[in-house]
Amino acid sequence: MNFFHGCTALITGASSGIGEEFARQLAPHARSLILVARRKDRLETLRHELDRPGLTIHCHTADLADEVQIEALLASLAASGERVSLLINNAGLGDHGFFEESDWSRVSAMLDVNVKALTRLTHALLPDLVRAGRGAILNVSSIASLLPLPKMAVYAATKAYVTSFSEALRAELRGTGVSVTALCPGPVSTEFGRIADRPDGGDPMPAPEIFKVPVEDVAAAGLAAVERDRARVIPGWFICVAMTLASLVPIFVLRLFLAQRRSDER
Ligand SMILES: NC(=O)c1ccc[n+]([C@@H]2O[C@H](COP(=O)([O-])OP(=O)(O)OC[C@H]3O[C@@H](n4cnc5c(N)ncnc54)[C@H](OP(=O)(O)O)[C@@H]3O)[C@@H](O)[C@H]2O)c1
Repeated sequence: MNFFHGCTALITGASSGIGEEFARQLAPHARSLILVARRKDRLETLRHELDRPGLTIHCHTADLADEVQIEALLASLAASGERVSLLINNAGLGDHGFFEESDWSRVSAMLDVNVKALTRLTHALLPDLVRAGRGAILNVSSIASLLPLPKMAVYAATKAYVTSFSEALRAELRGTGVSVTALCPGPVSTEFGRIADRPDGGDPMPAPEIFKVPVEDVAAAGLAAVERDRARVIPGWFICVAMTLASLVPIFVLRLFLAQRRSDER
């Protein structure tokens, strides 16, 4: 964890799940943590838990689906004089069910948070990282980014964006001292599944236990990948092997399988 010693980390979605765990694991090493989410009470509770001499924790309440609130976050960051050296774009949400039955406000929020906010924060903070000649961006993607996923079509597409964007940006930044890593977890027990399930009581998002990786291990794998300057990491050997095998399946075979699944479920 020497890599993170004295760092200033901005973590989006720090009020729960993987983001909260990033904050816990970075707190003993960082100089400053900037925690961003909508639920202020959760951020404040975490601030009290992690408080220690030598660590400054800023809690910033922002709805990342709202451009105005993103700009306000960036303005307050500029005014504070904090220079972010580690940007963790973790905030995200899913929506499970057929696209044609989806609620537009949920689809729109997914596009705004998973794609637009991540891109805007990266765009705003990257020039300082490059100028400093040192820094890292950790984008939380998903194994859903690696294959099309019926009943999570938009979510998987937003995460395909995150993985592709991360890989391309990493290539652009070669030699600048700034690394970009995509963390691609499989199912993790957080609030994600409950939020992705539709309020109208559709079938719950499947999350086979055998594929699940503890949230602590997911965050640790992400930070270890940043430390080792890895382009991409899938936490958990079992899911990693399964995804590697799945990626070898020809697309026409995959299409037959996915189409079959869809007709079975209708
Ligand atoms: N859990 C999984 O199975 C899994 C698998 C693969 C990838 N991921 C990815 O991992 C990341 C973290 O998810 P998680 O599993 O930790 O889920 P989680 O427990 O639901 O946490 C999601 C975080 O995102 C924040 N967030 C959501 N919408 C936001 C908005 N409009 N504005 C600001 N913050 C917002 C939430 O904070 P507030 O609600 O307080 O705003 C919360 O802190 C996501 O990008 C997710 O896609 C999760």
